[in-house]
Order: sequence, then C-alpha cells, then structure tokens
Amino acid sequence: MDKLVIKGGHRISGNITASGSKNTSLPIIAATLLTGNGTFTLHRIPDLKDITTFTQLLRQLGAETAFSGNTLQISSQNVTNVQAPYELVKKMRASIYVLGPMLARFGHARVSLPGGCAFGPRPIDLHLMAMEKLGATITIETGFIDATIPGGKLQGGHIVFPVSSVGATGNALMAAVLAEGTTTISNAAAEPEIETLCKFLIAMGATIKGTGTTELEIKGANSLNAIEFHNVFDRIEAGTLLAAAAITGGDITVNGVDPEQMKAVLKKFVHAGCTVQTTENSITLKSQQKLLPTDVTAKPYPAFPTDMQAQWIALMTQADGTTSITDKVYHERFNHIPELNRLGAHIEIHKNQAIVHGPQLLSGTKVMSTDLRASASLVLAGLVAQGTTEVLRVYHLDRGYEKIEIKLNSLGADISREKYNEF
Ligand code: UD1
Repeated sequence: MDKLVIKGGHRISGNITASGSKNTSLPIIAATLLTGNGTFTLHRIPDLKDITTFTQLLRQLGAETAFSGNTLQISSQNVTNVQAPYELVKKMRASIYVLGPMLARFGHARVSLPGGCAFGPRPIDLHLMAMEKLGATITIETGFIDATIPGGKLQGGHIVFPVSSVGATGNALMAAVLAEGTTTISNAAAEPEIETLCKFLIAMGATIKGTGTTELEIKGANSLNAIEFHNVFDRIEAGTLLAAAAITGGDITVNGVDPEQMKAVLKKFVHAGCTVQTTENSITLKSQQKLLPTDVTAKPYPAFPTDMQAQWIALMTQADGTTSITDKVYHERFNHIPELNRLGAHIEIHKNQAIVHGPQLLSGTKVMSTDLRASASLVLAGLVAQGTTEVLRVYHLDRGYEKIEIKLNSLGADISREKYNEF
C-alpha cells in the first residue's frame, strides 16, 4: 500500500491549474451509454482511480475506451451486456449512474446494489423511485437491481425528489432524455456537476429546460449522438488547494476555474481572514494573518459543499477560537475527526455538528485515511503539523485527487509517497 509522508511547516505558495472535475466526469461517462452513434471525445478527464474503475465498468458492458493525456475516447456502439457486476460496483457507489442510461437505451438494466459507505447510510431509493415514475418495473433480488420497462419504452413523468440528490437527479435526467414525451423533475439537484451534465446531454441532442435550477423539464428524443466535450474544473480540488495555502499562511493562485461556482466557499475564506481575488478563470488567496473561527453548514448547492466539510474542519484547528461545523447532507461524515485529534486537534462531535477548539499546535504522527475527503483533511493537517505526518491508506485520496503530492510539492510542500505493509 502507499502512504504519504508529509514534513510539516512549509508555506504553500505559487500558481497551479485545477484538474478536471471527477464528479462531473462520472455522469458524463455514464451518459455515453445513451447512444451507439459515433465516438465521444472527452477532454480534461482527471487521471484518477475512480475514472479507471468506471471506464473498466463500461468496457465490461461492451464499450470501447481509450485514455491518453486527460482525453478519454468512448464508443458505446457495441454495448450488449446490461449487467453491472458487484466486483466493480462495490468499488465505487457512483456506478449506479449506469442504471438510467442503460434502461433508457436497452429497456433493461441489472446493477449490483452498491452496499455500505464509510460515512453512513447512502440509500439509492430516490434513483429507483425516479425510474419507476418513468414507467420502469424494479425488482431487487440476489443483490441486484433489475429494471425493466413493461411498455417497451420509458414514458415521461413528474418526478418530485423529497431531498436533493445529485446522483438521483443525474440518473433521472439520463433516463428522461430517451423517454417518450415530457418529464419534469422538481427539487432537482442544482450542483454544477448536474448543470454540466445537462449541457452535455443538450450537446448530444437532448431538449432540457431549467439547466442550473431545481426545476428541470426534459423532452425525450428518439436518438442522441456522440460529441466532443471539454469537462469543467474540479471545485472540490480547487477548494482543497486554497485551504492548503490558508492553513500554512501561504498564498496561491488556482487557474482554470470558475469562481462563480465557489462563491459559498470563497466567502468563508474571506470571513476567516484570507484575502481572495478572482478573475473570470482564476482565484488568488492570501493568508497572512491569524485565521478567524468561521462557522459553516454544509447543504446542497449553492451552499457550502459537504465535500469541503472535512477540509474546513482541518483549517479551523488553526483558527483563533471555537468554530461550529454542521453537515446537513451526510449527518455522520466525521471519520476524520478522531484522526485529526490524534494529531493534537481538539474537536468534539455532537450529532451532525463538529465543534473545533482552536488554535491547536498539531504534531505529526501516523494517521489513517478512511474516505476521500477525510484523507484530504489529514493531508492539510500534516502540512501545518510539527514534524512528520504519515497518512496511511492513501488509495482513498487517489480516488479523487489527481497527482496531489506532485501538485502540493510544486507549491512548496515536502511530501513523499512510500510503500508500506499494513500487517
Ligand atoms: C454526490 C457526490 C458526493 C457528494 C454528494 C453530495 C459524486 C460521485 N458524488 O454523491 O461527493 O458528497 O453528491 O453533494 O458525484 N439520498 C437518499 N436516497 C437516494 C440518494 C441520496 O436518501 O436515493 C440522500 C443521501 O443519503 C444524502 C443526500 O440524499 O443524505 C444527498 O446525496 P446525493 O446528492 O445523492 O449524493 P451522491 O450523488 O451519492
């Protein structure tokens, strides 16, 4: 296994370009299953474990893929197998994204149930409800979701989500674009990842109104076409890099971003005492003074994202006072807290709220990654901790951060990747 060995105490300073968004790449790769007409060329796809796993799943279904220099080519012309096996789905919950497009195109999909997750229950009931609203019959047996369409073709319907779900909105959209008639989705997720999926589907020939809002209207098409597409930046990676500069008293410019999509996070950095300047496609953050305690509540977009909650907790360990961080999306997403406390932080958990008592002098030791963003928070803490921090089980981090130690080292960090045996 790999671990990151971080020598703390170095300021993060300089220029860096954000990678392409992982959480946008996954649904747009799934959407390529909607058509056998032509080959897709997708640019700015990050070279990540999750992308490798997902393209492996598509190949298993019969697609052809080629990945080189962040450009992914996919042809789903020869897809004949509609079964997504447990071996691949268990590695990545986002595999559920193949359900909507396979069902819409082939009238049948079998997807293994995804199973548990490191930060609490993550049900898929809303994905299934959306498919049923469009006329699918769903049965669950032997660990598989089996979705069929008794009428032969999905029919437009009115889908009302009781809670905002990125994944279920994406699946509903990908099913509705090939359904007969009009579908409306109320309380749709308005995250930039869904906005980009809408733009992707429209470029393929779909008709969608309300892109970027919580009310979507989709007119089904008879067929769609492969396209060339430029992916958007990863707003969570960008936020994590800004936090790396903020926690080390550094300064950074992150290029290739859209600051509009990061308003809630940038506002919090300013409140915490950082100077933030933006252009159309860059963010510059300077952190020269003591950090101020800055409460956040993670909620659906445009609010502060749950995927930045762990990093914010790490940052607030260095703030001068007490900070409250609440997660209203995932109530149990706090696996990073015991590990941060092992580094010397003083953080309490009360239900879905973390109370961070800062500033605390952190000192390096061995800590364990438990999930993707939890790992990012440990790396941030390691950057400011005295001595050496070893972040074990780095495979979690590799699922979602492209060349993270190379990027941070180019900004002044001292991080090396080493092999180790866990047992
Ligand atoms: C996506 C992101 C993840 C992010 C999350 C919230 C990807 C690959 N992952 O996950 O990084 O943390 O959005 O922004 O894009 N829910 C249900 N039933 C369902 C589906 C969801 O109750 O069928 C609940 C969840 O438990 C959670 C909330 O809805 O409390 C939001 O989850 P959702 O937006 O669906 O997260 P994902 O799409 O899985």
